[in-house]
Amino acid sequence: MSDRIFRVMTQADRAAVLDLNTRAFGQPDEARIVEALETAGDVMLQLVVESDGQIVGHILFYPLGVFGKLSAAGLGPMSVDPWVQKEGIGKGLVMHGLKLMKDAGVPIVFVLGHDWFYPKFGFSVEQAAEFETPLKGPHFMALRMRHGPPMSGRLIFPDAFGVPIA
Ligand SMILES: CC(C)(COP(=O)(O)OP(=O)(O)OC[C@H]1O[C@@H](n2cnc3c(N)ncnc32)[C@H](O)[C@@H]1OP(=O)(O)O)[C@@H](O)C(=O)NCCC(=O)NCCS
Repeated sequence: MSDRIFRVMTQADRAAVLDLNTRAFGQPDEARIVEALETAGDVMLQLVVESDGQIVGHILFYPLGVFGKLSAAGLGPMSVDPWVQKEGIGKGLVMHGLKLMKDAGVPIVFVLGHDWFYPKFGFSVEQAAEFETPLKGPHFMALRMRHGPPMSGRLIFPDAFGVPIA
């Protein structure tokens, strides 16, 4: 197996990242969200995985407001090249990203995603229960990175997601 490099995304990766998101999701919607988040400056961190000069994985973290309180972070979109899925790349991206969020002092990370994937990292519906958003449901999860505020509140997503405040 070739070496896989996990690193911070640069501007030179942009076209490959948008193409990867489109292929992994089988539609352009998530690539458009990535573009809209970037254009609005609503990006905290983007990591990529490079293999043989190709971008095969991508994860994005964005600032997520909690009405009137200390802010949180959101995870997504994230994608792995369909040719190399189920080889641990997605897991590596989430773990690298969460470590950097923790190091940065982010109190809690939210995600709307697969219930067979994110609970593996400690995300749960219960940890999101005290926060208000129209996205609430079995796929809306959170992972607390440290004790302390915010413990509850109305979530304010970046405009790119088109999610109204609850
Ligand atoms: C979701 C996604 C990012 C996972 O990436 P990946 O590199 O294939 O995941 P990994 O190989 O790191 O797998 C991590 C775990 O998830 C499991 N897993 C991966 N794909 C799975 C699937 N389709 N069904 C069930 N379990 C799956 C693995 O078995 C592994 O479990 P383990 O840690 O208990 O061994 C990737 O499938 C993807 O890009 N999908 C399309 C886009 C998408 O859905 N993005 C996420 C939006 S919420």
